[in-house]
Order: sequence, then structure tokens, then C-alpha cells
Amino acid sequence: MPKNHIFPETHFHETLDFPKDFLWGAATSAHQVEGGNDKNDWWAWEKKVQPVDKQSGQAVEEYQRYEEDFDLAKNLGHNTHRLSVEWSRIEPEEGKFNQTEIDHYKKVLKALKDRQMTVMLTLWHFTIPLWLSNKGGWENGKSVDCFNRFVQTVVPEFKDYVDFWIVLNEPNVYEGLAYWQGKWPPQKRSLWSFVKVTKNLASAYKKSYAIIHRLVPTAKVGIANHVFSFSPEVYHSLVDNLSVWFYDILVNHSFYLLTGIARHDFLGVNYYIHQRLGKRKRGLMVELLDPTFAMEDVSDLGWEIYPEGIFKVLSDLSCYNKPLYITENGIASTNDDRRTRFFINYLKEVYHAVAAKIDVRGYIYWSLIDNFEWAEGFSPRFGLIEVDYATQKRTVRTSALVYQDIIKNNGIRHKLLKLLGHTLNVKQELAAIRR
Ligand code: FCB
Repeated sequence: MPKNHIFPETHFHETLDFPKDFLWGAATSAHQVEGGNDKNDWWAWEKKVQPVDKQSGQAVEEYQRYEEDFDLAKNLGHNTHRLSVEWSRIEPEEGKFNQTEIDHYKKVLKALKDRQMTVMLTLWHFTIPLWLSNKGGWENGKSVDCFNRFVQTVVPEFKDYVDFWIVLNEPNVYEGLAYWQGKWPPQKRSLWSFVKVTKNLASAYKKSYAIIHRLVPTAKVGIANHVFSFSPEVYHSLVDNLSVWFYDILVNHSFYLLTGIARHDFLGVNYYIHQRLGKRKRGLMVELLDPTFAMEDVSDLGWEIYPEGIFKVLSDLSCYNKPLYITENGIASTNDDRRTRFFINYLKEVYHAVAAKIDVRGYIYWSLIDNFEWAEGFSPRFGLIEVDYATQKRTVRTSALVYQDIIKNNGIRHKLLKLLGHTLNVKQELAAIRR
């Protein structure tokens, strides 16, 4: 570039580079994609209280179509995949393990290894077998031993194919939605139940950590923690700031405090939510403010688009000096151009975290494919791959090609920044950029 050009030369470096060997991929969970998971508590609950269009049913038939979808992920350049196994398939009756299902999952995991993918395996992603939920689920102290027996059984079977063990997915979200807010099965609103479940999930984790390390001494073991970015509504308000401090410990750090950070070989970070805390009413309590109230840009689920939040939570968690992996981050949107902008804006912030020497080693988008979004059913569209639910036809979205470009270059090419412009036709522009 000529020296006297109107732009400073520094603007022409090519790429916002990510570290060598960075992990790039996407995630799913068994109940959300497999279909036919009729032996767990969610299935029973869906049948009982949800309208037909919010029941998981055949989901996206991943149980049968996993190879087709892994091929799509591979062609999109992913080097990593995060998925879960369904406990209720493997142990449909208490203490009776189904070897056919274990062999099925071995085939699934091997299919990833055949495609040279790094595998992150989640052992528990919200659903429990019906026999356990009939005994009180995670509220029952025996759930800890039941889960540990399951872990003890499956780890030797799967160990040759797994690189990262994510023992639990988002215990904090589960405790909050199922036992505090009463939105998810078993729909309780009880402080005592909440405390018991929190304690049992923490004990189950501690024991699983020891079991996995005994069976596989070099294993990398952790959880996928749902981490919120909190902000005070009024920046100079003492009460708002104190509540940010309190909620941060309660939501983001308490699982590490309960289980001991030494038992986490890495920190899996699921980041979606920016939550403002403010005091609008008289009295002591602060409120969790709705972003639509503040006229913020939100996803189809009403979750605020707040890219700085991912930088803030990574920076917050760097205090533990552990490798950080973003194990989920994504947007529900039927407008795929928003997903393209989401990628670039959020990954720019991850780049800044890397530039600030925060030890981030991977980014896993939620989700590889449209799927069953729990109590919300099928309408939220998170996928890099679109599914026509009438035919199960898969179509790769344009945003997936933008992500592919980022993965291929192990960074964000400056040219891609142009796609942030709101009036552009992303598909056409991307084609021009790639020429
Ligand atoms: C996370 C869950 C995941 C998915 C995304 C949208 O909290 O772990 O299963 O539902 O939200």
C-alpha cells in the first residue's frame, strides 16, 4: 500500500489472528437433536404439559443422521464437535445398562474421530432417566451414586474417542429453571429443593472428577458453566453494584467454590446473557431487568445482543488461571444475516480477550443444527444448518460459510468486517470477498 494513501498502513494487516491450534466447532445435546428419547423425564413432561408442537418427538433425527451432519460440520471446516450421550438410553432401567446403546454411541464418537475431530463429550445435559425422576431426581441424595455408577460404566467404553469430558452442562441453569423458577420439569419452586439439587450436583461432579481421573489419568475434565455478564442499571448506584457482585458470585462462581477449582482442568464457558440489575421499586430487592424494556437489540428469544459481555466474562474467569473454552455461544434468529453479524461481533471480542493474554483456546457455536429448544420447542433457530422439520432436509446457512472463512483463516479477515454493514446482502458480499 503506498505510504501517502489516505488510510494508515496499519489498517491493512490482514487478519485478527487466533492462537495456533485453536478449537473451532459447534455443539448439540442428545435430547435436543436425537429424537425418540422416550425414557427420560423431559419426554414424560412434554407429553403431559406441552402442546404437540413443543414436544421433542423425532427432533432432527440425529440418532440416525449423525454421519450426514458430521460430514457437513467437517466440510464447514470444524475441527471440534461437542455432543452429549443420553443417560436414559444407556441405563433405561435402574442398574441395567444397554450395551447396544453404548455401542451406538461408540460408533457416533468414532465417526467424529474418523473425521479427525476433537471431541468434547457431555455426560449430563439436563435430562435424567424416568426411573430416577420417579425417585425424586437430583433432589434424592442417591442420585449422586446413580450418576457416578453411570460415569464409571461409560468412561471406559468411550475413553478412546473423547478429548474433553464435560461432566455436567449448566448446573446453575438447571437448578434455577427446574427448582427455583418452576419452568422446567419437575417445575418446583422451593428453596429447600434448590439447595438439595445444588448440593447433589456438586457432589456428583466431585466424585465423577475423581472417577474419570482414576480411569484416564490424563483426562481433561470440567463442566460447561452458564456465565452471565451482569451490569448495574445505574453505574453509580451502590445497591446496583453490590447486587452485581452478589449475582456474579452466586451464578458464575458458586459451582467452582462448591467443588474446588482444583477439580476443574479447564473452564467451559456458555455465554448468552447480559443481565442488567436495577432497583425500580421501593424496598431492598433489585430486579433482573428485561432488555426489551431498555430497547436493546435482542434475539428471537429476547436475549440481548451484547458482544462486550463475552470479553467481560472471559476476563472475569481468567482469575482462575485455567484454560478457557467457549463451549456455547449463539443466537436464535430466523434472520441469518443477524447470525453473520453476531459471529463477527462476538469473535472480535474473543480476539480482544486473546490479545489481552487471556487463555482462551476454543470457540464452540450453539448449535450445529436447528433443534428442540427445551420448553420453547422448535421455533428458535440457532443452527448453522437449517432444518425443514416437515422433511428433515438440511440446508447450510450463509452464516455457516462466514464461520467457515474464519476457521479457515484461524481468524477474522479484515474484509469480513464489511459484513457488519446493515444494508448489505450478506450472501452476495461474502461471495465477492471470497473471490
Ligand atoms: C443453553 C443450553 C443449550 C441450549 C442453549 C440455547 O443454556 O445449554 O442446551 O438450549 O442454551
